[in-house]
Amino acid sequence: MKSFTPKPLIAFACLALSAVIAAPVQADAEAIANEMCAGCHGADGNSMVPGFPKLAGQQKVYLLRELKDYRSGKRVSEIMAPLVSTLSDQDVADLADFYAKQKPAPGVAGNPALLSVGKNLYLKGNSNTDVPSCDSCHEEDGSGSGKFPRVAGQHVDYALDQFRLYATGKRTNGSRVMQAVANRMSEEETRAVAEYMASMP
Ligand code: HEC
Ligand code: HEC
Repeated sequence: MKSFTPKPLIAFACLALSAVIAAPVQADAEAIANEMCAGCHGADGNSMVPGFPKLAGQQKVYLLRELKDYRSGKRVSEIMAPLVSTLSDQDVADLADFYAKQKPAPGVAGNPALLSVGKNLYLKGNSNTDVPSCDSCHEEDGSGSGKFPRVAGQHVDYALDQFRLYATGKRTNGSRVMQAVANRMSEEETRAVAEYMASMP
């Protein structure tokens, strides 16, 4: 026997259902972001405070892992830990998705003399001290990919904080490569590469 439901009705039902399923996810993430994160990371993830990382356009895979690691304590931060402790798996997945989709603000050019030193290190590394080039993992334009974070336009102060944490063995949740990188760079190279990353559009 032929069942008889008019096509427009099915289409309408499907639309209504998908709206119910799709809408709350983004709305929830945005609501959480506005309420709990925007004060430090900016409404669209483009933090204005040099010590607070920009999240806009950051890699989703990377964001998700970092949020879970703050929650479990694998990545240690007295500031971030209490903020994510009450978030569900769904919340952190939605927040990672939300920030990955925001448009990153272009970087700001700093000290020109340091920029050329930084660019050279970023693209070529330093064979004398075994510092690998950065573009092999973070991409030439600094956009990153997957678990390799975006570094383009990131604040100098935040990057310097992270290099210090890597070098002193206080950030160990991720790749050991970054600990080696941070240990082997000279003070000038560290500053220069941070300036270069911050200047990338
Ligand atoms: C009081 C300020 C503050 C608030 C509020 C805050 N953060 Fe953070 N966030 C920080 C600081 C500082 C760091 C760097 C911590 C570190 O050194 O690991 C950070 C780091 C991060 C990172 C890692 C970024 C990277 O590039 O590795 C993510 C992701 C993040 N925050 C997401 C969030 C989310 C999502 C919220 C809201 C639920 C939030 N933050 C609320 C200050 C804040
Ligand atoms: C073999 C791959 C690899 C190379 C080479 C590499 N990185 Fe990374 N880097 C990573 C990964 C993976 C992370 C993610 C966090 C972690 O694992 O701790 C990271 C994290 C970072 C962060 C922290 C980003 C954030 O938002 O907290 C900075 C800054 C950074 N790298 C800069 C550099 C610079 C500068 C160089 C070159 C001198 C470099 N990296 C070379 C893989 C690499």
